[in-house]
Amino acid sequence: MRSDSGQEGDLNGFQCDVALRDEAGSVVSKEVPPSRVVVGGPAKVKVLTMVSDKEYNMQIPLLDLKAHHEPIREELVAAIEEVMDSSAFAGGPFVAKFEQDFAAFCGSSFAIGVGNGTDALWLSLLALGIGAGDEVITAPMTFMATAEAISFCGAKPVFVDIDERTYTLDPNLLERAITPRTKAIIPVHLFGQAADMDPILEIARRHGLPVIEDACQAHGAEYKALKAGSIGISGCFSFYPGKNLGALGEAGAVVTNSEELKNKIQMLRDHGQAKKYRHVLVGWNARMDGIQGAVLRVKLRHLSKTNDARRAHARLYSQQLAEVEDLITPVEAGYGRHVYHVYTVRTRARDQIMEAMAGRGIACGIHYPIPVHLQEAYRWLGYTKGSFPVAERCAEDFLSLPMYPELTAEQIGFVTRELKSLLRSFKRTPAPAS
Ligand SMILES: Cc1ncc(COP(=O)(O)O)c(C=O)c1O
Repeated sequence: MRSDSGQEGDLNGFQCDVALRDEAGSVVSKEVPPSRVVVGGPAKVKVLTMVSDKEYNMQIPLLDLKAHHEPIREELVAAIEEVMDSSAFAGGPFVAKFEQDFAAFCGSSFAIGVGNGTDALWLSLLALGIGAGDEVITAPMTFMATAEAISFCGAKPVFVDIDERTYTLDPNLLERAITPRTKAIIPVHLFGQAADMDPILEIARRHGLPVIEDACQAHGAEYKALKAGSIGISGCFSFYPGKNLGALGEAGAVVTNSEELKNKIQMLRDHGQAKKYRHVLVGWNARMDGIQGAVLRVKLRHLSKTNDARRAHARLYSQQLAEVEDLITPVEAGYGRHVYHVYTVRTRARDQIMEAMAGRGIACGIHYPIPVHLQEAYRWLGYTKGSFPVAERCAEDFLSLPMYPELTAEQIGFVTRELKSLLRSFKRTPAPAS
């Protein structure tokens, strides 16, 4: 931030530089760019520089897929052309090669490419024989798909509140939710951070329950040096374009060490076929596209590097936002490696901040504004406000800041300066009389 005088000033809590100019009669509205605030009469004009002109023109999206794909565009186009040349569009060798690479990346014996992350969860549950009358435990702070997959095999989702530090299923609350009907547990590795798997696995073991990991937001995340997804009976991934490992369309995968589960999911994703036109099971069409397999294989080669970039951005955000009043930055649990699918802070002024940030060209997001147990679609489950207080508080406070590997330090600096100045200004604004 530069000014003519270089003096520091403060206006309504905004950090700003103050320039004093004696410019009698000058037409200030023509002279002063829109990034400045002008106060005073024509004889003595104060120009308060809010942000630099460059920053004023900054538009920062929540994620920028164009910037993400640009450096590897040629590799991606070559991969797509290869699929076109061979016409292996549905399943086939490109998917098989990606499956091998992704299983190796996760440290799992097998990967099965499917249509999307919802398929991965649903087919895992189906392959484990879960169905009508069963209950499956998961966290209420997740994307709707986790619960939908449970519903779509006929079972009932049962929720357990999240831990207030990691935002993942709280193992301390897990055991009391288990009933004789419980048939599986699905911890969700939210925002790129693994759930605390050891206590979850220990409780599951005692009750003879399989643990399916929802790793849809956690490609490359680690729990005690194990890759997210490789720890439970199966790990489910989404390759939705905005994910840390994203396709150029829809795709997903299950990873597992169980050959039996792998064989079953392979059949279920392809109409229950053991061989062409030999249908052993009633399955579905949940195959991965050949083009997505080829594209994901290219993008997988860059994942460690892009995850490192996300982690560096998160470090910068957290340094610049440390000890700011009414702001909680993400906590990295000591047990693993967070890969920051999103960088989510918490503030009580969330809605005002989000709107004001948009006005300054910074797109923020909310993951997620309504916890799953309070969604209209699940009213019949009978949960009410207060059922899961941590998830509900988080849904009110969560604010996701721009996060993608190609984000620059300059952009992060702009985001944090604007956020801090808004927090200060909202703090100084008296609450409206009710
Ligand atoms: C936690 C979680 N689970 C499941 C899914 C479903 O994945 P997909 O959109 O690929 O079906 C998502 C996708 O956003 C997710 O974030």
